[in-house]
Amino acid sequence: MNITEFIKKSPKAELHLHIEGTLEPEQMFLFANRNKIKIPFKNIEDVKKAYNFSDLDSFLKIYYEGAKVLINEKDFFDLTWAYAKKCKEDNIVHTEIFFDPQTHTERGISFDVVINGIHKAMQKAEKEFGLSFKIIMCFLRHLDEDSGFKVLNKAILHKDKIYGVGLDSSELGHPPSKFEKLFKKAIENNFITVAHAGEEGPPEYIWEALNLLNVKRIDHGVQCLKDEKLIEKLSKNKIPLTVCPLSNIKLRVFDNLKDHSLKKMLDKKLIAMVNSDDPAYFGGYLNQNLIETQEALNLTIDDIKTLLINSFKSSFLNEEKKKEWINKI
Ligand code: ADE
Ligand code: ZN
Repeated sequence: MNITEFIKKSPKAELHLHIEGTLEPEQMFLFANRNKIKIPFKNIEDVKKAYNFSDLDSFLKIYYEGAKVLINEKDFFDLTWAYAKKCKEDNIVHTEIFFDPQTHTERGISFDVVINGIHKAMQKAEKEFGLSFKIIMCFLRHLDEDSGFKVLNKAILHKDKIYGVGLDSSELGHPPSKFEKLFKKAIENNFITVAHAGEEGPPEYIWEALNLLNVKRIDHGVQCLKDEKLIEKLSKNKIPLTVCPLSNIKLRVFDNLKDHSLKKMLDKKLIAMVNSDDPAYFGGYLNQNLIETQEALNLTIDDIKTLLINSFKSSFLNEEKKKEWINKI
């Protein structure tokens, strides 16, 4: 079996995926038409042309614009169901997905509409495909902590559906320390915590996420290589880093996939793995990320095995389930 076949056929876990980032241009038009929402694009070609980003903020502007077509529970259900079908195609057997309630509540959509649509689709996928899942609610870090408390209070009412909380959106100028109290309350209410840190932001933001937000994983974290002490801490404490290679290229964190630091991270014994972030915007789902990264960095089959094992190990599955999947790789 060649390495691409190995990637496609192996069972996989995805740990860094924004459900709003799976909104394909075709769906954007479909939802816009059925909800009578105006979008600033004439056709699909037009949309694809706009997906030419210079950094994280230039992407987020278009991403939040796209999300405005999501109005009803059925939209959130259909979006999530389409992603679940991609999981089946890619042999993803476990997925931990992010959603950003404030992107929707800030424009008048109710929290319940969002979470119920997403959760019902994931439950259907669990039943029909055996896909296991966790849902993680992210706070938008460009908003203030008070806005975060409002959605946290809603999440507490949906604790049966939401496993943890995270932190995303515009990183520079919005350090984890801005949300220390909010994360403390989330932990008191038994949510696990993760945070985007060190995507564009400095190693200091990763330190803050670890020390102030008590995160179990760092999302992205690629900037950690600038700080030897941090590398030591991350590897000693086995803190996973949910790396997203195609995202990093589209958002110009690295100029070229050949320059990506993933292999260096593995060499330093960091627990890194490959994820897809916002696949509809960045050029591919999990298999595509793995295949392109393998080619660009000349990863061996053992490197790929390490990446796939790291995903299951770093997941929030129970130990027995982790072992079961790892034995099947
Ligand atoms: N929201 C969606 N994708 C994101 C990313 N890559 N970084 C920060 N926030 C995001
Ligand atoms: Zn992300």
